[in-house]
Parts: sequence; structure tokens; C-alpha cells
Amino acid sequence: MKNKFYITTPIYYVNAEPHLGHAYSTVISDVQNRFHKLRGEETFFLTGTDEHGDKIVQAAEKQGTDPKTYADRISSLFRESWSLLDTEPDRFIRTTAPEHIATVQRILQDVYDRGDIVFKEYEGLYCFGCERFYMERELKDGKCPDHGTVPVRLKEKNYFFLMSRYQDWLIDHIKRHPLFITPERYRNEVLSFLRDPLDDLCISRPVSRLTWGVPLPFDDKFVTYVWFDALINYLTGLGYPDDPNFSKFWPVAEHVIAKDILKPHGIYWPTMLSAIGLEPYRRLHVHGYWQIHDQKMSKSLGNVIRPGGLVKSFGVDATRYCLIQEMVFGLDARFSENAFLLRINADLANDLGNLLSRTLAMVLKYAEGEVPASQGQDGVEKELREAVLRLVPEWEKTMESFAMHRAMQAVWEVINLANKVIDTSAPWILAKNPAKAGRLRNVLYTLLESLRIFSILIYPVMPSTARKMQEALGLDPQKDLDLSAARRWGVLIPGTRTSRIPSLFPRLETGKAKDNREVKRGPVAEDRVKQIAFEDFKQIDLRVATITAAERVPKADRLIKLNVSCPEERTIVAGIAEYFSPEDLVDRQVVVVANLKPVKIRGIRSEGMLLVAKDDSGLHLTTTATPAESGAKVR
Ligand code: MSP
Repeated sequence: MKNKFYITTPIYYVNAEPHLGHAYSTVISDVQNRFHKLRGEETFFLTGTDEHGDKIVQAAEKQGTDPKTYADRISSLFRESWSLLDTEPDRFIRTTAPEHIATVQRILQDVYDRGDIVFKEYEGLYCFGCERFYMERELKDGKCPDHGTVPVRLKEKNYFFLMSRYQDWLIDHIKRHPLFITPERYRNEVLSFLRDPLDDLCISRPVSRLTWGVPLPFDDKFVTYVWFDALINYLTGLGYPDDPNFSKFWPVAEHVIAKDILKPHGIYWPTMLSAIGLEPYRRLHVHGYWQIHDQKMSKSLGNVIRPGGLVKSFGVDATRYCLIQEMVFGLDARFSENAFLLRINADLANDLGNLLSRTLAMVLKYAEGEVPASQGQDGVEKELREAVLRLVPEWEKTMESFAMHRAMQAVWEVINLANKVIDTSAPWILAKNPAKAGRLRNVLYTLLESLRIFSILIYPVMPSTARKMQEALGLDPQKDLDLSAARRWGVLIPGTRTSRIPSLFPRLETGKAKDNREVKRGPVAEDRVKQIAFEDFKQIDLRVATITAAERVPKADRLIKLNVSCPEERTIVAGIAEYFSPEDLVDRQVVVVANLKPVKIRGIRSEGMLLVAKDDSGLHLTTTATPAESGAKVR
């Protein structure tokens, strides 16, 4: 019987459009799904959207629409992004789907009937952003650690899930299953949460405050707390309880999340499952954050990279490859377009792309475009064959343990070895000597077989590149993209026609920055240059001003106090003392922002701002090319 594998992503809130952070979780889940398929397993891959709760109501209101219409729109954006990134979920679930609502209600009733849900009064600190109560000790300087807002004190009657009943069981389960939550740091984090007694989990919200949720089956004056609703998607996705997929895949469930939602997945969910009478999931894989300028990429910070932009700039396989390589699973990573670009040119265009095109060109030139018959290997090509065969089990082990970046690095080491084999065996010299014809065939065959195996190993990360490589090697990706074929040497049949194909990854254009760093032209980051409307620009009052007097501000190294006429007299304090002495400034014409709100700097009222340009040689005052009247508007 085939082994089974079930992988899920978080279901994403529809209050924000998909960004790189979401894309990472979905792509790695897809990579894992394809890896298990490649091994011949029967797999199920679930993703979707989380559509209930305050956040969604507020986001819909902002757009002047109702929650359902709003959720429909954003949910389809997620779906579209996942297909742009060539991910292939078996099911895309939405928490507003009737079958999900029915499953949530069925489970609530079940847990209620078993006595694990009680009604009681509670007073606590509630963060509307997180839609949950906080304990004093969880706050940072009295504020929500995620939203930085002061939570509101609320007192109300609600339904509570008696999570604390399952605390000892959960501690024991985590201790007995070292791989239940990985990497280990997150397992330790959960165990440390569990050192304190667990509070019971408030699982309802009164309809007077929120209607956009699943009604409690036993009290229609309440709806379900979003997390209790959302986590159940992992069961609905399999058709719990009656669908055969449920019994087939639940025992092998693996969840992918980032560390922001560790507590609901590491604590609420296993205790809920236990209360439902189900086995916990098999594994929880926790990754870090993609950051930009040292901050988590998130909608609220407005510093997001869109998956569509990346795919447009770099292509889908290259984007997937960079996502895998640029983040060590479990740690935070800084997003850099430039790092993506350099990696694509180095690893994909140079190492892999050139290896394929050089090999195919030589096969065409020295073997009439056909796989040559080989008599075995010698010297460097023997070394290559051995390295390739050692690589496959190592790759499989690291992929299985979610160290996908290490698996790819291992492949690239051997790709580089193959490139070296070309350089040291020098087939173009072998071709000149008829006595070396056998060696030439051996070298070419070894290169082709290595490429065949590389095509299989890169498939989970770069599916279309893998297919293109196979087709160029005269193989059929439908049947030859299979891990058991990667464990065997000698699959390519001599006489098979190979074909030359356009380069797999054309080099991307780069520019050189002053410090000789290579930089990409044309940003993909949306936050790089914020565009403003002409209407907004028109609000800035720029004027020509003549400096009538200038003096240093005492005890301030950088400041000069200027009197300017534009044409009315005003004072401006400017941070330019490191570059200009007051005497140099008098009578000069400059451009100023004249309608800036006045501020006090060192007790002096500053009524505007000087425009300057800065480069490596220093500061330059801006002025008009020919003298203008003081007060002339700059547009
Ligand atoms: N709806 C809940 C999840 C419910 S699962 C039963 C939710 N949604 S979310 O839209 O906020 O998505 C959070 C998830 O998106 C993270 O756990 C992670 O998978 C992904 N990421 C969002 N921002 C991210 C980064 N900046 N970096 C990496 N992943 C991030 O929480």
C-alpha cells in the first residue's frame, strides 16, 4: 500500500492581499507535497482562506462593501496567486463554505455535550486587533505585542473551552514525540508556555458585538471565536468525519505555519483534537518571518512584496528557488531583490543553465545529438557518478526533515562538480583524438545521466524547469520524474535523441553601484518608491527664497539659523552646518518648502525647510538656473 502524506498551510485572513510571507508558506508546502508525490506517495495538500471575525468586517467596511463580497474578492486573489506560483493544492477551503460551518457546529455540539465547554463570566483585557483576551504578563509595556495598542478591559459572559483539562496530556505528548513541533526552538517555546497553568479558552463572542461568525449550535446569541472556527478547517478539508479522505489522511497530517501562530497550533489545536476524541496531527513545522528593513513584512506595516511582482520580474521557478534558498527554515530572513537577482544569475543561469546547454551542445557536436553508449567511468567522471549517487539519499533525508535549503545546496555542490568535470576532462580535446573516443562517450554519458538525476531532484522546487530538462534529454516527464529513477544509474538509453533548448534562465540585467555591488535595475518592491497623486504634490508650496542672514545655533553642531525672504521674512533652522559656514550662505537663493507646519528647534521657531541634494561629495543647495524673484513659486 502506498504511503500517505497530508500537508496544510495556514488559512490566510482575507483582510489583506497575499504577500511574500504567505507565498513562502504555500510554496514550501507545495514543495513538500511534490517531494512526497515524487516518492510515489498518495498526497493531499490543503490551503484556503479564513473569512470570519472583526478584522474582516472592518476591512469590508473600509471598502464600503459587505463582508461576503469582500471575502469573495480577496479569497480569489489568494487562489490566483497560488496558481501564479505554480502550487497545486488539492483543495482550497473557505471558512464561509456551508460544509465548513456545519463541521464547526457539529464539533462544538460534540465538545459541549461531553462537558468540555462551559458558560461563565469573564473579565479581561481584550485586543480587538487580535480578537482575543490577553493576560497581563503577555503584554509588552501594557500593550498588545502584535498591535502595539492598549487592550480594552471587557467583562462579559461567554463560553469557554476547558483547555486546561488537557494540559498534562499535551505536555506528555510533546515530550514523547520529539518531532511533534519542529524546529526544536519552537517545541521548547510551547513547552515553556505550558509551564504555567493554561487558562480556559474563550470560544464565543456575543452577537451584540460580532455577527460575522459561525453561530453556536447551542446558543444563538453567540458566534464562534475565529480561531476555534479556523483550526477546524484542517478537518473539514478532508471531509471529516465520513469522507474516506479523512481516515486516509488525518493520521499523517502535517501543518506548516510561521511563528506568529504557534500558540493556537501548538496548544489550542492539539487540546481541541483531544477533546473531539481525535489523534493530534503528526507534525507542526514552524518557520520564521520574512523581513524588510528589519521588520516583519506585514500588511499593517505596509512593507509588502507581492508574489505577482516577483513572478513577473524573475519567473515562477526562479522565484520558488529563491524563496527556498534565501530562508533557513525556522529562522527569520531579510528580503532583498538584489540577493534574488544575484542568486538567479549565479545558481540558475550560470551553474545549472550552462551545465545543461554546454552538455547538449557537446552531445550535438560530438555524438550527433544522441545519448552515446558508455563503457563505464574513469577519473573525474567516475567521481561525478559517485557523488550523484551519494547525493540522492542525502537529498531525500534533508528534504524529509524540511531542510529544503540544505537539500538544494547539496544538489548545487554536485552541479558544480559536473561543471568542473567538463573543464578538466575537456571533451573538445578528447574529440580530436580518435583513441579517446571511448572516454569522450563516457564523459558525455555521465554528464547526461547526472543532468537527468538533477532534473528529478529539482522538480519539487522548480517543476517546469525539471520538465524542460527531461524533454531536452529525450525523456518523458510523465513517467521519468520519479524518485526511484533517481536512485538508479544508467536509465538513459543510448541512441535516444536529445534536443537543444533555449537557455533555461537567461541572465538578468544588473547594474553596478558605486561600491561595485551589483544592483538590479527597476524595483519589484512596492514600498521602494511610494507614488503620490498629483493632487497631493500640488499641496506642497515650493518657493524661491533669498537668504538675508545666517548664524550658527549655539551648542548645536549641525544647525544654522537662516533668515530668508520669500518674499515675506521668515526663519528656518537647517541641519547644514557641517557643510556650509554662515558667511557662505548670505545672499544665496535657495528653494524652500514654504507651507511646512512650523516647529520649534532648540527654542527657535522654524518656518519651512530648505531643499538640498546630497551625494558623496557633500550637500548642494538647490536653486533656479537663472536668478528668480524671491517668493517665485516652483512647480
Ligand atoms: N487566519 C490565521 C491562520 C489560521 S490557520 C488555522 C492567520 N492568517 S494570516 O493571514 O495572518 O497568516 C499568517 C501566516 O501567513 C503566517 O503563519 C505565515 O504562514 C504567513 N506569513 C504572514 N506574514 C509572514 C511573514 N512576514 N513572513 C513569513 N510568513 C508570514 O494568522
